[in-house]
Amino acid sequence: MNILVLGSGGREHALAWKIAQSDLTEKLYVAPGNAGTSQLGENVALDPEDFPAVESFILSHDIHMLVVGPEVPLVKGIYDYFRSQYRFSNLFIIGPSREGAMLEGSKAFAKDFMQENDIPTARYQSFTSKEFNKAKQFLKELSPPYVLKADGLAAGKGVLIMEEYDQALSTLKEMFHGKFGDAGKKVVIEEHLKGIECSVFVLTDGDSYMLFPEAKDYKRVGEGDTGLNTGGMGAVSPVPFADETFMNKVVERIIEPTINGLQERKIIYRGFIYFGLMNVNGDPYVIEYNVRMGDPEAEAVIPRLYSDIVPLFLATATKNLAQQDMQIIPDTVATVMLVSGGYPGSYEKGKKITIPDEIPETSVIFHAGTKVQDGDIVTNGGRVLAISSVGKDMKEALARSYALAEKIDFEKKYFRKDIGFDLT
Ligand code: AMP
Ligand code: GLY
Repeated sequence: MNILVLGSGGREHALAWKIAQSDLTEKLYVAPGNAGTSQLGENVALDPEDFPAVESFILSHDIHMLVVGPEVPLVKGIYDYFRSQYRFSNLFIIGPSREGAMLEGSKAFAKDFMQENDIPTARYQSFTSKEFNKAKQFLKELSPPYVLKADGLAAGKGVLIMEEYDQALSTLKEMFHGKFGDAGKKVVIEEHLKGIECSVFVLTDGDSYMLFPEAKDYKRVGEGDTGLNTGGMGAVSPVPFADETFMNKVVERIIEPTINGLQERKIIYRGFIYFGLMNVNGDPYVIEYNVRMGDPEAEAVIPRLYSDIVPLFLATATKNLAQQDMQIIPDTVATVMLVSGGYPGSYEKGKKITIPDEIPETSVIFHAGTKVQDGDIVTNGGRVLAISSVGKDMKEALARSYALAEKIDFEKKYFRKDIGFDLT
């Protein structure tokens, strides 16, 4: 089978790495990919959001399976684009329909969906700019900290948490005046939940689902979870507090009602659902849905998959997931992200990266923002490399990732040295 993966980050490198190991994979293409994916298959200079260009490539290269890594093409309806054309009826697509992708594409849609299906989540209301006075009233009813969320996609920057009422009110005004462009024209205001977060993933064909290993990611740039939010500075899987009792609650209260809710609304969904959860005194609440794997969670979760992923994808696309099973390795994987100095603010690109020739077999380096330039691998983004290592426990896995992190060099390399700090 010829497979095309869309995207260019660490998540896509991890997916491509797993797909490349399958006997079912003939040719693997990644569009646009990075320096890491070019070692596994062929990078293709395509914009995943340019559907006609993706379409021409699929036709000219006899692609059988399309795996969509990031959310934007999904929210823009890539699934529907291909499904609506008869000549692509044999193309297997991993990802939800446009309507399914609304779970990530609109926070108001996601919250309404949760409410309709009795899925535990923070109390909330959504408002448009015309409803400023009502929004102000609702803010007054809540106690600090205040949580404001731009409705639409805002590249992970659309959530603001503020201690002061006055600050929340002025931020609300700014959002209605276009702080996040159209994404913020509608705002969800919600109650603040106190607890510890983790991410749970399923692969679903719309009827059945397969539970993937959970993970915890570290979003803040600074040690001790301080400073600005990033795309993610590291991840650990499994998560010790996500024990059987907790996971049973997640399945019963969250995963199953979500799948049932999609069915009731007749929403076509054949792909990953990411449940961003808050554990509040042992009870799970949904903070957000994403309609794809997490990044950097994929870099910690995918290496724990013992089973071949391609048959799972095939079963997802053909609604046969109930017939599949999946083996997970019980060991821990810890991922440490090496980033460009200055990230998530401004940073420079094009720095030469040196990687040791010998990588221990307990570690794998997933490229997040790299490219090949004049024969060298250079930095090409804020998040540069994700180092994932396996160990019998978190301590061993982290020690291996950190040992390798020290041996990789590029100018202004930065990484958090406390991944997993809150799990011991
Ligand atoms: P989101 O983009 O929805 O994942 O939100 C970004 C981050 O904001 C989450 O990972 C949480 O750390 C935090 N957050 C969002 N909503 C809430 C909430 N209701 N209570 C507490 N923290 C929240
Ligand atoms: N790591 C958070 C995300 O993928 O959205």
